Amino acid sequence: MRRTIADVQKMKRMGERISMLTVYDCASALIAERAGVPMLLVGDSLGMVMLGYDTTLPVTLDDMVRHAAAVTRVSREALVVGDLPFMTYATTQDAVTSARRMMQEGGVQALKLEGGAAILPQFRRLVELGVPVMGHLGLTPQSQHQIGLRVQAKRAAEARRLLEDALALETAGAFALVLELVPAPLAEAVSKRVSIPVIGIGAGAGCDGQVQVWHDLLGLFEEKTPRHARRYASIGTAMENAVRAYVADVRAGSFPSAAQSTVMDEAELAAALDAVSAKDRG
Ligand code: KIV
Repeated sequence: MRRTIADVQKMKRMGERISMLTVYDCASALIAERAGVPMLLVGDSLGMVMLGYDTTLPVTLDDMVRHAAAVTRVSREALVVGDLPFMTYATTQDAVTSARRMMQEGGVQALKLEGGAAILPQFRRLVELGVPVMGHLGLTPQSQHQIGLRVQAKRAAEARRLLEDALALETAGAFALVLELVPAPLAEAVSKRVSIPVIGIGAGAGCDGQVQVWHDLLGLFEEKTPRHARRYASIGTAMENAVRAYVADVRAGSFPSAAQSTVMDEAELAAALDAVSAKDRG
């Protein structure tokens, strides 16, 4: 049975910490579900980790819909949340149109939108229309050219604004919040003040749950892991070693072997070759 927003909210009430993980395709979705992740995020971080962009800004709604659909085609148990990408919810009408595509074509059960007070009308409208929406405060990468890629809300005024935004999103009907790159004590205070689950990334252990990016968790890229991430495996190196072994086997002629090949009746082959030779001779 698929998890619902009510299940995730119950986890907070029961004091059960929530793990969330980004996934972008059917393989990652299947593996994450097998491992018991209750909430999957088709994040617009796919711009960097799947599509090779430097930021999330070039990601389009078509990109999000395609990756979300790949995840939801195979996912059966987790609550699947999808990001609305940059500028696709600038107005209430844009938000409604984008939400329709992500839910009908992408098949997600909930959406995530970056921002606070400025996007309350979009939040309220989506919630009125029956769409579960998750907020995202702190470092909001779609605004990175304005706010920088750094820890947010370290000063009182900014921290107060973040707490007010969190409360306003809760009142507007957000079912949960992501807090990205904010000081741990502030994230813990927000988690205590709101009744909805607060999922942190680079926001300390006092949140109700944590979200991580697939590629950081599994060590798919060789570059340094971000400070807020913990690498649980070196899959990139394991993949590279496997591909090196394949290249070496092809070079050596040891792949494919009889086990990966199909035999053919010798008489059938001879008949085919003779027939073509006869045709060639005229
Ligand atoms: O796009 C994403 O992966 C995200 C997480 C970092 C929360 O928004």
